[in-house]
Amino acid sequence: MLEVAHLVKAFGGVRAVDDVSFTLRERTITGLIGPNGAGKTTLFDTVAGMHRPTSGHIAFRGRRLAGLAPHRIFHLGLVRTFQIPRPFPEMTVLENVMVVPARQSGERFWNNWIARARVRSEERALRARAQEVLAFFELERLAGDRAKNLSGGQQKLLELARVLMAEPQLALLDEPGAGVNPTLLQTIVDKLRALNARGITFLVIEHNMDFVMSLCDPILVMAQGRLIQQGNAEQVRSDPRVLDAYLGGAAA
Ligand SMILES: Nc1ncnc2c1ncn2[C@@H]1O[C@H](COP(=O)(O)OP(=O)(O)OP(=O)(O)O)[C@@H](O)[C@H]1O
Ligand SMILES: [Mg+2]
Repeated sequence: MLEVAHLVKAFGGVRAVDDVSFTLRERTITGLIGPNGAGKTTLFDTVAGMHRPTSGHIAFRGRRLAGLAPHRIFHLGLVRTFQIPRPFPEMTVLENVMVVPARQSGERFWNNWIARARVRSEERALRARAQEVLAFFELERLAGDRAKNLSGGQQKLLELARVLMAEPQLALLDEPGAGVNPTLLQTIVDKLRALNARGITFLVIEHNMDFVMSLCDPILVMAQGRLIQQGNAEQVRSDPRVLDAYLGGAAA
């Protein structure tokens, strides 16, 4: 589904992503781990079009992505959590889900003049769909609350609701479990599994190892810009290079 080959992203002299190659298979939940500063977020930014690669190739379902603008990549069905604007704090939860970019004809100027009735019915359909998405994430109680009043964990669920609203084929999630309490973390795990069963492929950056090990297969490990290992939880856990990367060489 996604092919990354010899990808390099340099900032001046720093090669934040340094000759990284991997393939994501459709319908997997792949984990991406590595110590702080390993280049994980930069890899996401480069795949999603926020950064132009210094060199290398990226293909999504056989289509070259390098050089495409983020919104073009988004419309191809590749969504990253960061790509969706942060929740608008003053807007309600429902409104936050409804404003996720989609082919909404209501946004087009001429349609407001030419096809008011159609726009109205599309608005109704959009609202119904947003309500369905909120129900899936058990957020319907909060639909009328302002986003700024949600807890950190509820904000993470809202972020995932907005991802689902975009109907992605591939979703890149940057630390979906960060700052989330254990109960809500389990909810997030369950929802990601359910969405994966419905056909969405995921690539997930996460520091919580229980989360990664229980949810993700395979797991990619980055350190200092490089991909140093990929395999299942057992292979990754038992690899001395991975341990070494986390301990900063202390294990050597
Ligand atoms: N826009 C930028 N300009 C310059 N350097 C950058 C930029 N973005 C990232 N870097 C550098 O690239 C390296 C990788 O950073 P990145 O944020 O990708 O790491 P990460 O693996 O996501 O870390 P963390 O787990 O802390 O989120 C770091 O050395 C960082 O300082
Ligand atoms: Mg990061």
